[in-house]
Amino acid sequence: MNTRILKPGAAALTEAAALIRAGSLVGMPTETVYGLAANALDPDAVRAIYEAKGRPGDNPLIVHIADRSQLDALISGAPSPAAQRLMDACWPGPLTLIFPKSEAVPMRTTGGLDTVAVRMPSHPVARALIAESGLPLAAPSGNRSGRPSPTTAAHMLEDMNGRIPLILDGGPCGVGVESTVLDVTGPVPRVLRPGGVSPECVREICGACEVDGAVMRPLREGETARSPGMKYRHYAPSGSLTIYRGGAEAASAAIRAAYDRAEAAGERPLILALEANLPRYGSRRTRSLGRDAGEAAQRIFAALREADELRAEAILSEAVDTGGIGLAVMNRLGRAAAFHIEEV
Ligand code: TXA
Ligand code: MG
Repeated sequence: MNTRILKPGAAALTEAAALIRAGSLVGMPTETVYGLAANALDPDAVRAIYEAKGRPGDNPLIVHIADRSQLDALISGAPSPAAQRLMDACWPGPLTLIFPKSEAVPMRTTGGLDTVAVRMPSHPVARALIAESGLPLAAPSGNRSGRPSPTTAAHMLEDMNGRIPLILDGGPCGVGVESTVLDVTGPVPRVLRPGGVSPECVREICGACEVDGAVMRPLREGETARSPGMKYRHYAPSGSLTIYRGGAEAASAAIRAAYDRAEAAGERPLILALEANLPRYGSRRTRSLGRDAGEAAQRIFAALREADELRAEAILSEAVDTGGIGLAVMNRLGRAAAFHIEEV
């Protein structure tokens, strides 16, 4: 199969919507990352998503809608008052809510769970594709399973070339990390995956918010994942990634020492550092994470892909503060590093 990349004009959107209605897969930009979209209500189309990604069948998909009127058919019962407030405040945007699912949603879409994850993206191309196809779209991130999520059409092509007919190129994604996954089926909203909507923000809207323990550590022996995605290695570059957490002075000293050790051992090291700290590394090989956590979110997946392109064997990263979107950045970095974090 030849994978085409098209700018999302009217003709491309018509074609993409026709592909979706015919049960095919389409790469679509969202404000978070690129998604691999298909009709969420068609078990065969959904099976094709799992196949194209090489994704385990028990890791459920997020269903994307463009209008609140599409929600009722997907969920069972009415949304709780907390869920209502969150939708009013954060939709469209990078917030995914977990609801009890309706009969209409195939078990294959939810990986066998009786709950469904729903999100209303704000990206105009995603919204137009949902509206024009007239269907809710299941869309995981458009990477092959285990790889960093794509934040440009070119990144998605790297992973999906020959596997899908079409990618709509909406330019680079604004947020850069995937949506916040929030379980609103219990009494207190619980973050299962941090993203663009921070726990602080959820707390402001609902009065309370818990962050699942497995967000910043590996699952413990025998612990059941509240979100199946927690079980799987994610975002991992080929080289070994270590995160150094501490003050800028101490962290950069530890990173310089580790870099020099790696080089002396004949390895190719790479440093990921915040813009302001780059001078601390002199002529060593670095990639900038940007000026703050927001820019780090936009760049993190591209930086991990670049580490692979550079065939970096030892990747040494600074940490960012975990306030706001920083928690999402540290979750993705932590998972990419299998939570190998050195406190310095
Ligand atoms: O920003 C995003 O959310 C992107 C764009 C494309 O919209 N999509 C995305 O999908 O990141 P994916 O499939 O890569 O991640 C979905 C996450 C997984 O960790 C999955 O386990 C979790 O959401 N999830 C989905 N349905 C769930 C459910 N019913 N209960 C708990 N976790 C669920
Ligand atoms: Mg993903």
